[in-house]
Parts: sequence; structure tokens; C-alpha cells
Amino acid sequence: MMTDDIPYTTVARAGDIPVGEGRCFEVGGRLVAVFFDGSGYAAIDDLCPHMGAALSSGPLRDGMVTCPWHAWRFRLSDGAWCDDPRLKAEVFAVRVVDGTIEVAVPSRAPACGGPSSGPSVSPAPPRP
Ligand code: FES
Repeated sequence: MMTDDIPYTTVARAGDIPVGEGRCFEVGGRLVAVFFDGSGYAAIDDLCPHMGAALSSGPLRDGMVTCPWHAWRFRLSDGAWCDDPRLKAEVFAVRVVDGTIEVAVPSRAPACGGPSSGPSVSPAPPRP
């Protein structure tokens, strides 16, 4: 996972997330689920790609989180849906520095019609 250009953001203190659980944090306008398996942390997009449930409220077992709404399971290592790995939730780099948990979350690409898409339009010149 490339994080060279992505700054890390502190989200919690090590120990704030119980073993086998996740917590949701807002980072750069995005919701990120951070899980602790007892030995390390993992971060995944909190919005389930199925219908948007909060993955952070699902249980973590054997490296997979189960969505609380329809029980789809996602691997925290790469975000893949266990039933069809072609579908993935985005995962993020996590590190612990001086007792704090930090995640590297890229900003989302602008949606269609966003400020950087399509031709630029200049305002009409003033009428004489
Ligand atoms: S919303 Fe997650 S499985 Fe349906």
C-alpha cells in the first residue's frame, strides 16, 4: 500500500479499541473503521460497499469483519469481500507512534461534476 504522499492522522490512543472490535473515526471528511485484533490494528472504509452500513460496528474474527446489516464479510488485509474478492472496500495504512494510532487516508477523487472535472467555463464578459 503506497502512503508516500498521504499524511498520517492521529485517531486514537493505543488501547482505546477493545480486542475484536472496531471504532469509527472521521479523517479528511471520510469515515474510517479501525479494528484491533489483539496484536495489531487495521483500517478499512467504514461504509459497507453493499448498502452503506457501518463496518466499524461489526465483529472482527479471523481477520475478517462481518457487516452488521447483511453479514457480508470483508478481509481487513485487503478489503476484499470474502464471497467475491473482486468487490473490495478500501483499506488504509495504520501505524502506532508513541502510543497513538495513526491512519493514512487519501482524499476522495472529486465526483463527476466536481470542481476538477469537465471543461472550465469562464464567466460571460460584461455587457457594454
Ligand atoms: S450493508 Fe453491509 S452487507 Fe449489506
